[in-house]
Amino acid sequence: MKQTEKESQVKKNGEKELPSQGGELLDLRPRRLSEYIGQRQVVETLEIAIEAAKRRGEPLDHILFHSPPGLGKTTLAHIIANEMGVRIITSSGPALERGGDLISILTHLEKGDVLFIDEIHRLPKVVEEFLYPAMEDFCIDFIFDKGAHARSHRYRLERFTLVGATTRAGLLSAPLRERFGILRNLDFYTTEELCQVVKRSAALLNIPIDEGGTEEIAKRSRGTPRISNRLLKRVRDYAEIRGPGRINREVADEALRLEGVDEIGLTSLDRRFIETIIRYYHGGPVGLEAIAATLQEEADTLIDMIEPYLLKIGFVARMQNGRKATELAYQHFGIPYPDSQRQLSFPTRKRH
Ligand code: ADE
Repeated sequence: MKQTEKESQVKKNGEKELPSQGGELLDLRPRRLSEYIGQRQVVETLEIAIEAAKRRGEPLDHILFHSPPGLGKTTLAHIIANEMGVRIITSSGPALERGGDLISILTHLEKGDVLFIDEIHRLPKVVEEFLYPAMEDFCIDFIFDKGAHARSHRYRLERFTLVGATTRAGLLSAPLRERFGILRNLDFYTTEELCQVVKRSAALLNIPIDEGGTEEIAKRSRGTPRISNRLLKRVRDYAEIRGPGRINREVADEALRLEGVDEIGLTSLDRRFIETIIRYYHGGPVGLEAIAATLQEEADTLIDMIEPYLLKIGFVARMQNGRKATELAYQHFGIPYPDSQRQLSFPTRKRH
């Protein structure tokens, strides 16, 4: 099967080889729950569920993680398989184009295996429908012929654990969502938590770093450990080539400036997003599609990668009729906040 060969990768527990996602980055990721920094409530839920499942000798319930990119969904899926002592088979919503792609994976699962499906909100409907009986009753129903001649054959599967990851919980259909036993949202990390991530990664990479350098990278990482690890590598390069071979605040600041990351971690696309609202659309409210068209970016990219953090730090507000730049955003860019924007306005809690 094209998909299983190309997109799915099997990892036997304990093997050093890991699926390549972000190259070396995966090797910086924790392999055990005890090494995992942040997301305390999620970690505790998993510790309990894993211990209970192991004690009963049963596979774990199906688990759904929801968060913006880079907050640890894939890492947790690998940790879960590791802690359970089982294999992990990885795939993604867009890679599973036809029912046969999924069936081929499901019929090769062994007892207790973790099947990880990233971007599960992008599973085609026809594929999703095979997942319902697979998740609920561990079987697949094959239908032959149509009308009066229709016959069905039930194929039994091994009991497995589906771990789904999505950046858009709102796009998941209710029948799919309801079949998960554990549903958890991962939040952005605090600067203190990211300091711990940076310290851990610097030790693994063997690069000396002081408190100032650690904090500078952590606070410019948009609340996201994947970004901390990426920035740490750029700062390491800079320190080795232009600097003293170790990371302090000054080296980190110079390297991150060169990377186009500002003092609070905003990238050029973050800045263009806000400046578009302010300069082209007078501060908003403006629809996301209009912002995307002006920036010549995919709306999905803005929804997944850009907007969540700007909402989190209160630079953008989501209104009933579009997005608005807040007074905080104007202050950050040194632009006077117009009186016309001061009128009473109510943000909406509607989610994408
Ligand atoms: N590397 C990336 N994310 C991490 C986390 N949550 N804990 C420890 N190391 C990490």
